[in-house]
Amino acid sequence: MNKNNVHIFDTTLRDGEQVPGCKLNTKQKVIIANKLDELGVDVIEAGFPISSPGDFNSVHEISKVVKNATVCGLTRSVKKDIGVAAQALKYAKKPRIHTGIGTSDSHIIHKFNATREQIIERAIGAVKYAKTFVEDVEFYAEDAGRTDNEFLAQVCEAVIKAGATVLNIPDTTGYCLPEEYGAKMKYLRENVKGIDKAILSCHCHNDLGLATANSIAGVVNGARQIECTINGVGERAGNTSLEEVVMVLKQHPYLNLDTNINTQLLYSTSQLVSESMGMFVQPNKAIVGANAFSHSSGIHQDGVIKNRETYEIINPKDVGVTESSIVLTARSGRAALAYRAKKVGYELTKIQLDKVYSSFLSFADVKKEVCDDDIHAIIKSSEIGNSIFA
Ligand code: KIV
Ligand code: ZN
Repeated sequence: MNKNNVHIFDTTLRDGEQVPGCKLNTKQKVIIANKLDELGVDVIEAGFPISSPGDFNSVHEISKVVKNATVCGLTRSVKKDIGVAAQALKYAKKPRIHTGIGTSDSHIIHKFNATREQIIERAIGAVKYAKTFVEDVEFYAEDAGRTDNEFLAQVCEAVIKAGATVLNIPDTTGYCLPEEYGAKMKYLRENVKGIDKAILSCHCHNDLGLATANSIAGVVNGARQIECTINGVGERAGNTSLEEVVMVLKQHPYLNLDTNINTQLLYSTSQLVSESMGMFVQPNKAIVGANAFSHSSGIHQDGVIKNRETYEIINPKDVGVTESSIVLTARSGRAALAYRAKKVGYELTKIQLDKVYSSFLSFADVKKEVCDDDIHAIIKSSEIGNSIFA
């Protein structure tokens, strides 16, 4: 692995699919897995095979078709889960078992009624057992975000010794601040013996809207994998959004971190996931939302028409969006109206534009958004209509 390359671990089909009402069938999952493979993700977490026969089948079928990415199945630190995951991954070219256990005091006391020592023993046992099936074993320390760093380091050291190749440090509840999450990664890099034998992985939830910032803080502090989902789908407020972290790294080259993602496929992948899950993307969603490259206020429109970069830090083509859009509303100026009129076939003189603009404003005050048909109608009904058509 190139030391500046950040692996993208996509968990749309596992953590992402845990959203109520967004369940996917095997056929839909296979289509999405193929698209993720084409997108260039390094790892596809295809499901949690012990959880249901349907999920087992999805992991099994995805394993057969994925050509490049590692295919991963989730388990608890339970022998039966691990054996079933290994079976589901049987046909994968590059299989990975993702096993783990809660490490925060809250999980240890309330979920497992156990001691820290018992948790470490179970973690070691799970990793060793998974290693009997596959070489690539990722360990997750659930609720690592609220786990005391010293204990977390002990767990990490123990599972690396047992053979873990990747250490997932989830901020399961989305509680951490970016500085805190970054410091956690730094602490692990500096205090875990054998840390160079494993890749540290960020897995951040978005309960406080910080998942992207936390993941970036993680990689800046030494992690080299980000676990994320398309459109940021996932339980509660969701997971880290794949398109956001990928574009943050691309747009900030001085960080010297890159991914293997073909960013031009981001928009079509987002659309595929949204349509398959029946979960619409909020219009103001960064990178893939309908408004991400649309400009509606007069000042911004004038700037973008003169030079796109005045108000856009990303070229829409880089993420697979054909072009920025100039949306006509009552806040739009003459430059925007002239620009859109030209697109539908009218080259307006300054005098014509002044006339049409006042009719346009009266119309736009009533209608929220002025579309191409409305532009035709406004021009036709204005006094200049005839001279243009003559
Ligand atoms: O958020 C989390 O802790 C998880 C683990 C099961 C990896 O999804
Ligand atoms: Zn999660």
